Amino acid sequence: MPIIAPSILSADFLNLGRDIEMVNNSEADWFHLDVMDGRYVPNISYGMSIIAQMKKKATKTFDVHLMIVEPEKYFEEFKKAGTDILTIHYEASTHLHRSLQAIKALGMKAGVALNPHTPVQVLEHIIQEVDLVLIMSVNPGFGGQKFIPQALDKVRALKQMINAAGSNTLIEVDGGVTLENAPQLVAAGTDALVAGNTVFSAPDPVEMIKKLKQVGK
Ligand code: DX5
Ligand code: ZN
Repeated sequence: MPIIAPSILSADFLNLGRDIEMVNNSEADWFHLDVMDGRYVPNISYGMSIIAQMKKKATKTFDVHLMIVEPEKYFEEFKKAGTDILTIHYEASTHLHRSLQAIKALGMKAGVALNPHTPVQVLEHIIQEVDLVLIMSVNPGFGGQKFIPQALDKVRALKQMINAAGSNTLIEVDGGVTLENAPQLVAAGTDALVAGNTVFSAPDPVEMIKKLKQVGK
């Protein structure tokens, strides 16, 4: 069964407490939290103070996706805010190896995100150091975009790389995930599905999470 990570970017921020409770009481596994700085991506979302507030109510793993330049400046603050898995973008990290070590030294799992144009092969010599690879299946910055199907080939190639290295790195797919493309993604080797619009625009989000959880069963 895939790990399901509802993306809070699509939640109702006027009723954030209610939406957090909904995820708590659903079959979801993680909270996916998107941090955007208006520089790395053309949008600004929320930061560590909101995440720390959410942590008081949320009962599941915090999967934080940093879409910011110079992410290494903020590792400690995101740890303090309650982050369990901290994912940084390959394209925003000059010294990726050092950054991954720093994230792990703070007691978090370390993830690397790849934009749609970035080949998975760039991680070949570092895959054993990576706890999670996040394959972007839309251009980062906004929820509710259309899935880019080439992400499937990237998942397959990444799965092969992980197996060949004997690593237990997880594969997460983020962007445009629906009940239609989820079965193919899981069959290709995806471990964790992020879903924003699909969950929060559903008439019954708890039921939608349940359906996503059943994919591939
Ligand atoms: C986009 C974010 C995603 C987004 C996914 O930059 O990284 O996590 O919230 O939303 P959907 O599932 O609606 O594409
Ligand atoms: Zn994300």
